[in-house]
Amino acid sequence: MNRFAIILAAGQGTRMKSKLYKVLHQVCGKPMIEHVVEHVSALDIKKIVTIVGHGAEKVQEFLGDRTEYAHQEEQLGTAHAVVQAEGIIGNEQGTTLVVCGDTPLITPETMKALLENHEKTNAKASILTAFTDDPTGYGRIIRNNEGSVEKIVEHKDASPEELKVQEINTGTYCFDNQALFMALKEVGNDNAQGEFYLPDVIGILKQKGEKVSAYQTEDFEETLGVNDRIALSQAESIMKARINRLHMKNGVTIIDPANTYISKEAVIGADTVIYPGTMIKGKTIIGSDCVIGPNTEIENCKIGDFTEVRHSTMFSSEIGSHVKIGPFAHIRPQSVIHDEVKIGNFVEVKKSIFGTGSKASHLSYIGDAEVGKDVNLGCGSITVNYDGKNKYLTKIEDGVFVGCNSNLIAPVTIGKNSYIAAGSTITDDVPESSLSIARARQTNKLGYIEKKKK
Ligand code: UD1
Ligand code: CA
Repeated sequence: MNRFAIILAAGQGTRMKSKLYKVLHQVCGKPMIEHVVEHVSALDIKKIVTIVGHGAEKVQEFLGDRTEYAHQEEQLGTAHAVVQAEGIIGNEQGTTLVVCGDTPLITPETMKALLENHEKTNAKASILTAFTDDPTGYGRIIRNNEGSVEKIVEHKDASPEELKVQEINTGTYCFDNQALFMALKEVGNDNAQGEFYLPDVIGILKQKGEKVSAYQTEDFEETLGVNDRIALSQAESIMKARINRLHMKNGVTIIDPANTYISKEAVIGADTVIYPGTMIKGKTIIGSDCVIGPNTEIENCKIGDFTEVRHSTMFSSEIGSHVKIGPFAHIRPQSVIHDEVKIGNFVEVKKSIFGTGSKASHLSYIGDAEVGKDVNLGCGSITVNYDGKNKYLTKIEDGVFVGCNSNLIAPVTIGKNSYIAAGSTITDDVPESSLSIARARQTNKLGYIEKKKK
């Protein structure tokens, strides 16, 4: 059976009170719509059509060619939104899954179960439903005496009796594609909101004597529709908990899951311990037996095994094994830190390479530098890489010892095994195995204070 999917994402999202288009609001570091597209893409689907309206360009920018697009110029309701896909899939035979762009928690497994149940029961339409103690705002599933679905009634159109129903429409459906587009022609907008409701298709098909089935998910949490910022924060904490649970099952210790934020893509090895206040973002890969946090932000980095990162931030960089970073270090993009390196407190590293066993333990700025192996950068070592217009490279070869409070004015090369005396400002290359002193000589004026008193 051919399968198609329609993702509804043209609504303005008035209840968000935002300049940002609703489905672009982020959950766990990614726009809601991207989560939905990922989930739908995990199924065996021939064509995905996303319905876009306001801010369409921005949505398309995020999703690229992962889906096709249909425009809904005016937001006249969810049924009207689905009609916009007719030009692309209207003539197809098969099953069409319809999902909302604002339900980022519905898993591919649940969508798959709905599709399979739909096809197995030979229904023309199937609704994913859920039970909840507080159904406020959701469409209610109205069943007849035999227990089969009659129709869906929106909250604003429901009678007091119907409002008591706790089974809700999750906004996810499967349809026989032909039956869907036929029934859509009969949907009207004579209701409390003056909108064309997609859920009306269920009642229409039922009245035609077609088979309509419902598939109930156990987990109301996953069906949460994000209409306002409160639901947005709920979605964040539900997805966050889900991701954290997965890592814990894989052998990662998370001291305080409520205060640990890990992206969906992150990979973390067993026996790594994550302390509170840590955000692991983007495509970060962390090895095993590491200690991460507390209060650490890591984005798009690759980290080896047995590495410690405490109270620090790092972005788009590669860090080896047995490395110690922090507290209070900042590793900026395109840095490569090899094994057994130490980057200590108040050290900023930018677009630099650190060879195995090198150290910058305190108060340094190392930018556009190639640091060899077993180099010691003393407290306050600075690469002077920028003249206000251009950036220049500093090369510090293997075994160099840079004394405290030294300025290395790039472009400059410090040869293998050399020493830089503390307080030097180095402007010229230093040859291998030499000592370079570049500071004014000290003069002591004897008896100066006594003379001054007189
Ligand atoms: C909808 C359902 C409701 C269900 C709930 C589940 C309708 C009429 N009601 O209500 O039964 O319980 O979802 O979360 O469908 N959209 C468009 N074009 C439009 C209007 C909406 O693309 O003209 C999109 C929105 O961007 C959103 C989705 O459709 O992603 C749902 O719209 P929304 O306004 O959030 O519907 P709800 O009131 O939540
Ligand atoms: Ca909604």
